[in-house]
Amino acid sequence: MKTIIVTGGAGFIGANFIHYLAKLKVSYRLVVFDKLTYAGHLESLEGLPNAQKAVFVKGDIADEKAVLKLYRDFKPTYVFNFAAESHVDRSIEGPGEFVTTNVMGAFQMLDGARRYYAGLSTAAKKEFRFLHVSTDEVYGTLGKTGFFTEKTPYAPNSPYSASKAGADHLVRAYHETYGLPVLLTNCSNNYGPYQFPEKLIPLMTLNALEGKNLPVYGDGGNIRDWLYVEDHCDALWTVMRKGKIGDKYNVGGDSERTNKQVVNTICSVMGKVMPAGRNQNLVKAGKRDYTDLITFVKDRPGHDRRYAIDASKIKRELGWKPKHNFNTGIQTTVEWYLHNQDWCQKVQAGQYNRQRLGLAAKAK
Ligand SMILES: NC(=O)c1ccc[n+]([C@@H]2O[C@H](COP(=O)([O-])OP(=O)(O)OC[C@H]3O[C@@H](n4cnc5c(N)ncnc54)[C@H](O)[C@@H]3O)[C@@H](O)[C@H]2O)c1
Repeated sequence: MKTIIVTGGAGFIGANFIHYLAKLKVSYRLVVFDKLTYAGHLESLEGLPNAQKAVFVKGDIADEKAVLKLYRDFKPTYVFNFAAESHVDRSIEGPGEFVTTNVMGAFQMLDGARRYYAGLSTAAKKEFRFLHVSTDEVYGTLGKTGFFTEKTPYAPNSPYSASKAGADHLVRAYHETYGLPVLLTNCSNNYGPYQFPEKLIPLMTLNALEGKNLPVYGDGGNIRDWLYVEDHCDALWTVMRKGKIGDKYNVGGDSERTNKQVVNTICSVMGKVMPAGRNQNLVKAGKRDYTDLITFVKDRPGHDRRYAIDASKIKRELGWKPKHNFNTGIQTTVEWYLHNQDWCQKVQAGQYNRQRLGLAAKAK
């Protein structure tokens, strides 16, 4: 049986990707390689049918020996490199870990692939692919108009996006220099099940449920293009099988929303699923409506104003398009967090209480 390695497979998108492949009943052995940081949880991989259960290997993508062993032991046909430090606020708080995992880790995964690939038969070489999962944040920020295309120059503004940009350049270089069969995807903001509750949508949902403030950064006018995570998984699987070697593909949901709009939508879904008057936490907090919990807080330093993806290349060349729209996707997502309180509690236990991070003062 051929093998797919998924690094970061215990994180938000990686775990959804494993569930997605399991649903497709792909005939590959699935191997998850994950360091299990605060963002990685084996609970997110529970409930898979036996035949589709992933082999789990605990390890660090920045650890050369562990990465070489991974390639040696599992001889993959496909590698999906999801593993990363992914939260902008944490990158402001402590950028070092982002450089280590996102740049050095990507380097070790690529260099391990280069050495492994060199030893493959001609037939195996034809099939092997390395797909690196990146973000639209590498392009920087947009004004009121325009879209990021695959040709937009990189202009990252946070330690997170800068470290992701560094990895993207290495991916390109490994193709140009060594002929490694790489693919690169730059995706917009994802939402859906299994996202660690430090990110906007699960954070707001759980705070609303508990009658806590809903902290909106700055004036709430920052715009992101939201994509339901299953659509991202579908795009990644499409690019892996049909993408042109050495190419990059933008992936987006055609769903631009301000943060304020997203939070208002969550409040309105909450109002339908759990009416305000029946939520004792809200009643105790003296609030009559979920929107009464919205609080505007100090903005994130270097906060990009607008991201918007032009995804026409992947649509035109590979026939992918998102299947979910924001209104139905957000409803499913909010309900998932409400119905999976066990998961929410387990992943936060003892390490995170939804505190504000990343308010570093500017250097003088
Ligand atoms: N979440 C988004 O909206 C979004 C959008 C576009 C691109 N991306 C990219 O998609 C990928 C996955 O993002 P996510 O939101 O699932 O992140 P996440 O933070 O939820 O999960 C990251 C996973 O990687 C693991 N990990 C971290 N450091 C590691 C290391 N050194 N070695 C091995 N494993 C390690 C963690 O344990 C965790 O399981 C990232 O590369 C991210 O940059 C995310």
